[in-house]
Amino acid sequence: MGPHVLIFPLPLQGPINCMLKLAEIMCIQQIKVTFIITQHIHRCLFHSSDAQAYSTKYDDAFRFKPIPDGLPQDHSRTVFEFSELMLSLGAVAPPILHQMLISTDSPTCVIADGLLSFATDIAAQTGVPLLYFDTISPSAIWTYMCLPKLIQVGDLPFKDDNLDECIRNVPGLEGIMRHRDLPSFCRGAIDFTDPQVDLVLKQVHHMPLSQGLILNTFQHLDAPILSQIRKLCPNIYTIGPLHAHRQTSYINSSSIWEEDWSCISWLDNQPSGSVLYVSIGSLCVMTKEDFFEILHGIVNSGSRFLWVRRPGSVAGLDPIDIPLELSRATEERGCTVSWAPQQEVLAHPAVGGFLTHSGWNSTLESVVAGKPMICWPHYVDQQVNSRFVEEMWKVGFDMKDSCDRVVVEKIVREIMELRKDEFLKRSIELSEAAVASVGEGGSSAAELNRLIDDIKYMKL
Ligand code: UDX
Repeated sequence: MGPHVLIFPLPLQGPINCMLKLAEIMCIQQIKVTFIITQHIHRCLFHSSDAQAYSTKYDDAFRFKPIPDGLPQDHSRTVFEFSELMLSLGAVAPPILHQMLISTDSPTCVIADGLLSFATDIAAQTGVPLLYFDTISPSAIWTYMCLPKLIQVGDLPFKDDNLDECIRNVPGLEGIMRHRDLPSFCRGAIDFTDPQVDLVLKQVHHMPLSQGLILNTFQHLDAPILSQIRKLCPNIYTIGPLHAHRQTSYINSSSIWEEDWSCISWLDNQPSGSVLYVSIGSLCVMTKEDFFEILHGIVNSGSRFLWVRRPGSVAGLDPIDIPLELSRATEERGCTVSWAPQQEVLAHPAVGGFLTHSGWNSTLESVVAGKPMICWPHYVDQQVNSRFVEEMWKVGFDMKDSCDRVVVEKIVREIMELRKDEFLKRSIELSEAAVASVGEGGSSAAELNRLIDDIKYMKL
């Protein structure tokens, strides 16, 4: 029997994108894959054409294993608390995983999302090697790893009037990381009964117990942070940006919502570099007030824009509330879709910048496309990611904690007009480094080969 990997992502768009890409690479390398996915996501993925395509293409080397997510049957699953999903999945998934690891078709290795800490004990009990794949940014993972220390030395909790003070106890980020750049749950009194805090602290404890940690980044991008993480997890595989590996071809889309391709035709008719792309990813929800401030700011800047308004992403918005002048401006130089083919949008020459919530996948996709970013982070890793965009890589602005039409207008002008060349130059340099890392002889290509060899020969 050949090598067989069981891949278990979080049932969310970003992690699914990464893990499906990794699964496809494994299949091409003659490694059989069982891909655990919730029944809901399985239905969403195959709302369209290629339901059986994966297994047909790979001669049954690939199969989905749909499992319940534990949420009530009548749950909408469009807007939910992340911890609600994690708690319900954490209740139903462990016995299923255990059963799969002791079955006759048990895998030679498990690759689980870093937040699925229950996999540690199950892998140990069944003797199956475990790799964690943490699909958020290394800078956020490193910050999480430092949280116990920050709490111990009294850096946390901090006072909210102290947001700009630098933190000394995140090694490697001295002088860069401020209180306001810590994950959002660090603000105010840390609530240890908060399921999100519990999940993160468990993750930090469990990660070093695995045989290795896979990260969606490349050496050049995160070198100082990677050397810190290696002190706790010596065996890390930096194989990203995964979506930029070109040897895969078969996944048309791993989107859980239907993409509206009409925005590409709209972009085709816009001048080069003139459009600001706006999206807050698959989970974030903005208030109506913030929506209007951002829309006013962009309209006042005079920029063209393509806005992804995912259903439910603006709480309580009734289109009728949109003032006439904003509707007119949107008609004249804007385009709104409910879900876009984001990688194609970012690669389009008409797109000159990206106003993003700084989710890690969106950040990497923008880096690869060479597009400057305006970051408006919400939670988890996004606060750290946006700081890196502005302060470490210098490919955009961090608009964290302010949502004011005057600020938005000013920043959009800077990115799209006034300092366009400067930001574009650095973004293109970073993009070239990203593409080189996954190309022949690149660091991520080599790390991916090492991962594949380790799995094939189980040198873990
Ligand atoms: C979540 C967290 O919010 C984020 O902080 C963390 O880094 C990963 O998990 P999400 O909010 O969905 O992810 O953001 P992100 O990581 O950016 O992933 C969104 C994915 O959806 C991207 O791969 C993007 O290409 C895709 N997308 C987004 C589309 O395909 N179409 C769209 O219209 C918008």
